[in-house]
Amino acid sequence: TGGGRLAGRRVVITAGPTREPIDPVRYITNHSSGKMGYALAEAARAAGATVTLISGPVSLAAPAGVQVVPVETAEEMLLATSEEVDKGADLFVATAAVADYRPASRAGQKMKKSHESLSLELVRNPDTLATIAAREDAPFTVGFAAETTDVEHYATDKMKRKKLGMIVANDVSAPGIGFNSDDNAVTVFWPGGRQAIGPASKREIATSLIGLIAERMA
Ligand code: PMT
Repeated sequence: TGGGRLAGRRVVITAGPTREPIDPVRYITNHSSGKMGYALAEAARAAGATVTLISGPVSLAAPAGVQVVPVETAEEMLLATSEEVDKGADLFVATAAVADYRPASRAGQKMKKSHESLSLELVRNPDTLATIAAREDAPFTVGFAAETTDVEHYATDKMKRKKLGMIVANDVSAPGIGFNSDDNAVTVFWPGGRQAIGPASKREIATSLIGLIAERMA
């Protein structure tokens, strides 16, 4: 027993979109399905880790043996992730597609239509990935970067700025990969190296990624 490349390791993963309420019946969100993050949670579990998945609203079943903490907003995601990392974590992987902005205020009642146009004021959301990576007791931290142009440039810049151990660049401009599809293709960057993975199913990509991460952590 105790086999697996992440045996005995505690792993925290964020997945899915966040949902930022405008009023009691409306919200801002994106097309993330959670598939990439759930596949990573499964692969980490299969590698022997104890896995907690901080999940935005998705329609996926909890992977066997994985603790799922459901959240809705970016603020809730940061809070739940911080609480989990407080307990001690060896690895944090941020696959979630977090809304960068939320409505400045949440209307208590359903907003009525009256004027021909309506402006919605948005404010910046907290960045879970940057917050965890900046901790003194930061686990090995892996970010994702969903980009449509100049993928490598933005991804490596993000890795340096946010002080990450690794970044997974996801070109979300190509059809059939990225948001909501079953397949994906990524390029992984770490200080001094890189590797392309896929196109392949998100399950296969997750297994390769966990292998690469375990190598870098060792
Ligand atoms: O969920 P699926 O349908 O399977 O799709 C998978 C995916 C395309 C969503 C996934 O592979 C992916 O690329 N996730 C990152 C999406 C994203 O929004 O990237 P970003 O470039 O905006 O954010 C960069 C990194 O910072 C990400 O690790 C993100 O989780 C993190 N972040 C961003 C903003 C924020 N407020 N908090 C964060 O933690």
